[in-house]
Amino acid sequence: MILAVETSCDDTAAAVVSVRGEVLSNVVASQGLLHARYGGVVPEVAARRHLEATGPAVADALERSGVSLDEVETVAATRGPGLIGALLVGFSAAKALAAARGLPFAPVDHLHGHVVAATLEPEPIAAPYLCLVASGGHSFLARVDECATYTVLGQTLDDAAGEAFDKGARLLGLGYPGGPAIDRAARDGDPEAFAFPRSAPGDGLDLSFSGLKTSLLYRIRDMGPEQLDARRGDLAASYQRAIVDALAARTIEALEREGLERLALGGGVAANSELRERLRSECEARGVAVWVPPRELCTDNAAMIAAAARFLEPMPYPDYLSLDASARLVSAA
Ligand code: KG4
Ligand code: ZN
Repeated sequence: MILAVETSCDDTAAAVVSVRGEVLSNVVASQGLLHARYGGVVPEVAARRHLEATGPAVADALERSGVSLDEVETVAATRGPGLIGALLVGFSAAKALAAARGLPFAPVDHLHGHVVAATLEPEPIAAPYLCLVASGGHSFLARVDECATYTVLGQTLDDAAGEAFDKGARLLGLGYPGGPAIDRAARDGDPEAFAFPRSAPGDGLDLSFSGLKTSLLYRIRDMGPEQLDARRGDLAASYQRAIVDALAARTIEALEREGLERLALGGGVAANSELRERLRSECEARGVAVWVPPRELCTDNAAMIAAAARFLEPMPYPDYLSLDASARLVSAA
């Protein structure tokens, strides 16, 4: 049994996962509303809330799993990347819990967690596979040959896809978090009403979204408030279409270049209804099988951290005591 804690950004998460990959509990205390009034995550506010929420989240995860602390064999926690103040809270709490029981401890790369979330039961994906991770902080394509690590094939050179959704929603007056708001607004809009740029930087598999955001800004600037009100749905739909086109194009390119036949999605943007549909149909046409884990495993969560810990050699007590969280940690090969 693995007990995992994740506090890299604005969600306090704890989970119990078996070594086989069964999710016995997956608790997330979201701070979304706390940060909504600022239009984004305030790092210091997030860290302070983690301090209050980590203990209860761990207790809740244990209770819901029906697993007692005595049965926990390994403790895992996100070491990075993320907001350093936020990371430190969950990482220190998890180390303390492990140390108090003399248990081994697994420090986990948050991105590795997203990449292997699809390896959890009940329908685990098997390597080799391609993973598209698109969240508020990261957007990249990774190749997985062995689940203990991953190779980044391409990544965003500027904004993450979720960030593009969030910033676009703010420009459109749709509130925070922007992804779900644009997803909803886009349903009533015409995705071809506005021609937004689809950037494909370089000849590799990188992504870029900052030009798109600027283009939306200029469009909105040219409109009066009434016109913006009338065209909000069309703007949202066209903007979303541009993001989905860029992500789908790079994903298909990566599948073809790498000769992979399985695709997993991860990160909060995997919840986007147009992206899911597009990748499903494009992959079906190419005989590629797609794994879209349930929403709670795509957004930040601790079950994915436990998922990654299953493939790592945990550190024995007391070797991890002096180990620190790291805002920039990336463990990709
Ligand atoms: O993975 P996640 O929960 O946190 C990070 O690690 O960043 O992802 C959050 C991001 C936010 O930018 C949010 O706007 C985006 O995922 N998101 C969506 C949707 N739901 C969440 N983006 C597009 N469409 C959605 N339905
Ligand atoms: Zn994340």
